[in-house]
Amino acid sequence: MSFKTLITLATLALAVVAVPTKRATCSNGRTTAHASCCVWFDVLDDIQENLFDGGECGEEVHESLRLTFHDAIPFSPKLFLQGKFGGLGADGSIMAHSEIETAFHANAGVDEIIEAQRPFAIKHKVSFGDFIQFAGAVGVTNCAGGPRLEFLAGRLNVSLPAPDLLVPEPR
Ligand SMILES: *[C@@H]1O[C@H](CO)[C@@H](O)[C@H](O)[C@H]1NC(C)=O
Repeated sequence: MSFKTLITLATLALAVVAVPTKRATCSNGRTTAHASCCVWFDVLDDIQENLFDGGECGEEVHESLRLTFHDAIPFSPKLFLQGKFGGLGADGSIMAHSEIETAFHANAGVDEIIEAQRPFAIKHKVSFGDFIQFAGAVGVTNCAGGPRLEFLAGRLNVSLPAPDLLVPEPR
């Protein structure tokens, strides 16, 4: 898919999302602003139980939070100005194109959590980009004194591999 097609799809998706909403009741009587958000309660229950070992602040939470950053940080206006693809930020590309992005030096070690998360995203039919940010936001709530991160759904499930060298090294 070309970059231009991707942008057109993104614009269409925004237009579709921006319709008036009616409050919806989801599983276990929980309510949300729109029925399309109900799926996130199911994802929540599933990952707390089966990805985060019953709501723990463990290795999977640490790695999930790390993954939110490694998916999102490759976004370079400078490359775009040079007429090159500079990444689209939190687009799920690190999961969709994991064979490419996990080979980047700065992404060493993220392959394990990507493989652990992917089946949940596929099972619940949510986009990889949304899933990665949701898992990170949910995960940190398991850690005492951790932040409450806002989660916004609606990322497309199409992406191009981010270019290398945009994820900063720890030093
Ligand atoms: C998202 O794309 C991946 C392939 O990159 C696919 O396996 C997955 O089923 C897709 N999910 C949705 C919700 O379309």
